[in-house]
Amino acid sequence: MQFDIRDAGLSAEGRLRIEWADRQMPVLSTIRERFAAEKPLAGLRLGACLHVTTETANLARTLQAGGCDVFLCASNPLSTQDDVAAALVEDFGIPTFAIRGEDRDTYYGHIHAILDAEPNLTMDDGCDVVSTLHAERPEQAAQVIGGSEETTTGVIRLRAMAEDNALKYPMIAVNDAATKHLFDNRYGTGQSTIDGLIRATNILLAGKKVVVCGYGQCGRGVATRARGHGAHVIVTEVDPLRALEATMDGYEVMPIGEAAAVGDIFVTVTGDIRVISWEHMEQMKDGAILANSGHFDVEIAVHADPRKPDAPTLDKLAVGRRLMRNSLEEFTLADGRKLYLAGDGRLVNLAAAEGHPASVMDMSFANQALVAEYLARNGRDLAPGVYDVPTEIDRAVARLKLESMGIRIDALTEEQQAYLTSWQHGT
Ligand code: ADE
Repeated sequence: MQFDIRDAGLSAEGRLRIEWADRQMPVLSTIRERFAAEKPLAGLRLGACLHVTTETANLARTLQAGGCDVFLCASNPLSTQDDVAAALVEDFGIPTFAIRGEDRDTYYGHIHAILDAEPNLTMDDGCDVVSTLHAERPEQAAQVIGGSEETTTGVIRLRAMAEDNALKYPMIAVNDAATKHLFDNRYGTGQSTIDGLIRATNILLAGKKVVVCGYGQCGRGVATRARGHGAHVIVTEVDPLRALEATMDGYEVMPIGEAAAVGDIFVTVTGDIRVISWEHMEQMKDGAILANSGHFDVEIAVHADPRKPDAPTLDKLAVGRRLMRNSLEEFTLADGRKLYLAGDGRLVNLAAAEGHPASVMDMSFANQALVAEYLARNGRDLAPGVYDVPTEIDRAVARLKLESMGIRIDALTEEQQAYLTSWQHGT
């Protein structure tokens, strides 16, 4: 078996942590038991590019129980948990290609290793497997039945591919399932971003001005949790509806050009590029802390962008740089001010903490497992394009999650059902 991991000797620790996470993933465990009996993925090869965490390990075990050969690589150079990668290889026999801190070449080398396995199903978090396959090995698309995408940024890239008529096989947008984005993006990103920020800095949030850039589901989660810690939260937005929601949710809303001068802590969660630019950094207070929780490390202008090599960036303009503690770097500017960057500007919740807690990934990954089964059955009948998760799957995940929490709900009476489908009743 081929693999590329940091240290196989870490497997015992990884195995225990995977087991602990599994206790919080009852929906996925239920699916795993059924998959082991029914083998809906038998004979297939599945290439997955996901954050290599304890939760992902439990998804990989579930897919393997479904009868397919799973090949796994990292979807971010800084999110891999090396002990988990070791356990996946040593204890579960899953070819894993992921090393925390890997450089760009190794990152893409690992994606190529997944493509070398000639997958029939792909599973992405950020669209890097799909885009690499289409850009470099388009002939491989013919053997892919379909794929799934975990995150908002990946779905945006897929829709752009579909718009360009570049997409060669059907993709299911797992991110857009209600049981994914309403929980994972909001509660998962909310809690784990604050977790990453605190682990990187150990600062007190109470009384600080926290600027949250972006008020999508992730931004809402971060804003709510920061407020829960006693921070004064400022939201920046480009969408008038979201800005209005943020205002009525009780946050101060202003442009980043104004927020830059007042914030103590900045968190970007927009999915877009250069949301915090060098011009904004020039206005920031001495000691400001910057973190990103969007998928790519482009939201804060830290590193030179090959598409805009002359744009001013923090790493070019800082006159000094020190690693202050794990996941926290200090940049000294020419005027003496210091700015602090958590998690190298990469997803702070995974780079400085452990990502979303297992009980929320339970729903996201239950969707992934059920979508893989759906694609194995129906993918050959779907034209290339981006599809929603079938409603039956979304609702089944919600039902199973409620059951696992011991929560029962009401059913409509016949009279109520009839009322909802009639138009005759008025005042
Ligand atoms: N994305 C965010 N948190 C995650 C986690 N814990 N595992 C896998 N992917 C994630």
